[in-house]
Amino acid sequence: MDIICGRIYRNGIHRACIGIENGKIVAIAHHLEGKKTDYGNALIFPAAVDIHVHFREPGQEYKEDFFTGTRAAALSGVTCVLDMPNNRPAIVTKDAFEEKAALVRDKACIDFGLYGGITEKFEDMPCIAYKTFLSKDNEIFCSSDRIEHVLRAVKGAEKPLVIHAELEECIERDTPKNLKEHERSRRAECEIAAVREVLKANGHIHAKIHFCHLTTPEAVEMAKGRASYGVTPHHLLFSCERSFTHEAWGKVNPPLRSERERKKLYEHFIHGEIPILESDHAPHTREEKEDFEQAPSGMPGANAMIPLMLYRVKRGDISLDRLFHMVCKNPAAFFGIPKGSIEVGKDADFMVIDFEKEQEIKPRSKCGWSPYKGWPCIYPSHVYLRGEKIVEEYEFVGGAGMGKMIQ
Ligand code: NCD
Ligand code: ZN
Repeated sequence: MDIICGRIYRNGIHRACIGIENGKIVAIAHHLEGKKTDYGNALIFPAAVDIHVHFREPGQEYKEDFFTGTRAAALSGVTCVLDMPNNRPAIVTKDAFEEKAALVRDKACIDFGLYGGITEKFEDMPCIAYKTFLSKDNEIFCSSDRIEHVLRAVKGAEKPLVIHAELEECIERDTPKNLKEHERSRRAECEIAAVREVLKANGHIHAKIHFCHLTTPEAVEMAKGRASYGVTPHHLLFSCERSFTHEAWGKVNPPLRSERERKKLYEHFIHGEIPILESDHAPHTREEKEDFEQAPSGMPGANAMIPLMLYRVKRGDISLDRLFHMVCKNPAAFFGIPKGSIEVGKDADFMVIDFEKEQEIKPRSKCGWSPYKGWPCIYPSHVYLRGEKIVEEYEFVGGAGMGKMIQ
């Protein structure tokens, strides 16, 4: 039995040791006998689950690939990601799904689940969950009159559905020239209307649903108690009034809102109204992000979410317990992933945190940039995936192929 000791985060923080066998936690006690690693006063916290990344394989490996994406996530304390299906080709058939799974399997450094995309018609896939977009931004699109059909299909398949909630008929499809125009073209009402429509349709179907990256307090209040929902770090930390190295760096869907709206969303976050934080890591190259009008929407974030949030814990904005629920417990529980807490029977996935050691965000995605570059943060010093050390003294020591697919 391998043993890791330190100050363990589990119903509070207590000095204890964790016994590990075959990648699982098999014991938690004051004293355990075996091959011991002792982290002294450092905190041992469950590793995080990021339910929303775009690692771009297959088809757009020049932006990111499964190795670079999972390595960046690992370095930030994430040991499981759920990857989106808007690839080239889009993952909307069982064949496309199987091909993607075969392609990324040998590259993943951490565990992963793959979403299946639902267009107008449903196809059975061995995915962890389904994803659909109510906005026509890629070929995985569901029009509002088909929502009910899609909800019934996922209910029948007994899998969750995650929804990009911006209603196509509300979006103004012109060419915004800056962040404020982008925000106006996809205004708050488009999100609020999308959430309203889905909740109405699901009222008598009761499919298990999650609204991705909500940006408005109104949508959060509407979804509360009726669905799962997530918020991204960028909608909490940036507004469309902010300046970026290139304006297009801040171009993302749903758009960054006004400073006033952002502050209201941040209040919800501080007060524990946000069940899940998701990065929506959507990398594009520097060249693609130079010209605002041409630039695709999306920014990288999987490498920054946890370190930025640990810094906010240190600063006192949120408690460690709040963070635990948003990035460990709730995402794992919603998708049925055997991670997210330090309990006997769970995967032995941890991060070791030294809150004294402040660093700055380093861009770690293949795309080569981060909107948070230089921001103060706290990286985990060590990360374990199913009992194996994959980050040691802030350096990646894992390898491609260590990650397993979760279905
Ligand atoms: C995503 C991407 O680049 O894949 N972009 C984004 O702005 N979030 C797609 C999407 O979720 O709309
Ligand atoms: Zn996304």
